[in-house]
Amino acid sequence: MRAVTYSQHGPSSVLTVQEVSTPGPGPGEVRIKVDTAGVNPTDFKVRNAGPAIPFDFQVPCHDAAGVIEAVGSGVDPARIGERVWVFLAAFQRQWGTAAQYAVVPARLAVPLPAGITSEQAAGLGVPYLTAHACLFSDGPLDGATVLVAGGAGAVGHAAIELAVRAGAHVIATVSSAQKAALAHAAGAHVVVNYKEPDAREQISAAARAGVDRIIEVALGANLALDLGVIAPHGTIVTYASEPTDPVLPTRELMNLNVTVRYMILYGFTPVMLTQAVADITDALTEGALSALPLHRFTLDQAAAAFDAVEGGAVGKVILDVE
Ligand SMILES: NC(=O)c1ccc[n+]([C@@H]2O[C@H](COP(=O)([O-])OP(=O)(O)OC[C@H]3O[C@@H](n4cnc5c(N)ncnc54)[C@H](OP(=O)(O)O)[C@@H]3O)[C@@H](O)[C@H]2O)c1
Repeated sequence: MRAVTYSQHGPSSVLTVQEVSTPGPGPGEVRIKVDTAGVNPTDFKVRNAGPAIPFDFQVPCHDAAGVIEAVGSGVDPARIGERVWVFLAAFQRQWGTAAQYAVVPARLAVPLPAGITSEQAAGLGVPYLTAHACLFSDGPLDGATVLVAGGAGAVGHAAIELAVRAGAHVIATVSSAQKAALAHAAGAHVVVNYKEPDAREQISAAARAGVDRIIEVALGANLALDLGVIAPHGTIVTYASEPTDPVLPTRELMNLNVTVRYMILYGFTPVMLTQAVADITDALTEGALSALPLHRFTLDQAAAAFDAVEGGAVGKVILDVE
């Protein structure tokens, strides 16, 4: 099969596209014929400086849409032919989704509801699983006010859609009119440009009793804003690290009984993943989720695709494999 591979860490120039042996599914695994792969920031971060590569080469990328075309022992052969979305394919495993075929444990290949395009499905894994855990690890959201920082980002987009579906009043922050349009399209009730000097007042006007939960992409940059708008006993959930760790103002956080929570997909429990997969499947079936604008690349253009993500492309970067 043709696969994007790398065998040492570094910039996108370490990526090569080559013919490799098509892997077979082991016990409990399925082999997916990849239609579309999704590229996420974690893919270039792990390629740049991830843990030591314990294989001859690594095929990158976690997310994809495709069709199950072979199953290992212990997996129901009736799954052959199933259209699926795939998550965490390359986590501690060799066979990521930037290839014609990927092999994953069967539970990482989730049946796709009818009518969902491969382009949308390839954007589900990392962003939606992360957003789901950030939103719901502290209980239901019906009637709550949620602030999604960076509402035009992949995780931010997913967080807006899942929070709106759960009955929350959703405020999103963005940095431009183009990104505001994306956050509105995702369903945010109020969108605020966080670069405007009165951003805090705009958020407070939309959240009279304060914000219950903040889904935060830049904790250090936004801490003062967050503390200015959060409700007593509110939660700030952060899923991204910044070049410099923030200094947390203990007394201010304590006075508000605020919880700061940190989330990373690689550490989600099976229960968290199962719940997220179930809710995402329901949301897809209801037509409650949408794709961001696409940036399409071929397998041969994988380095450019990774660079686009690293450069902050607005929208979703995908690899058209088939
Ligand atoms: N912990 C986890 O498991 C996990 C999972 C997924 C992603 N991540 C990390 O989360 C980050 C975002 O991922 P993504 O896929 O959503 O990336 P993305 O699609 O590039 O979106 C990032 C968004 O954050 C916005 N942003 C940057 N600084 C901001 C600020 N100070 N206030 C508000 N918004 C700000 C950006 O827009 P502007 O710069 O224009 O504001 C952009 O829209 C990445 O660092 C990624 O590695 C972590």
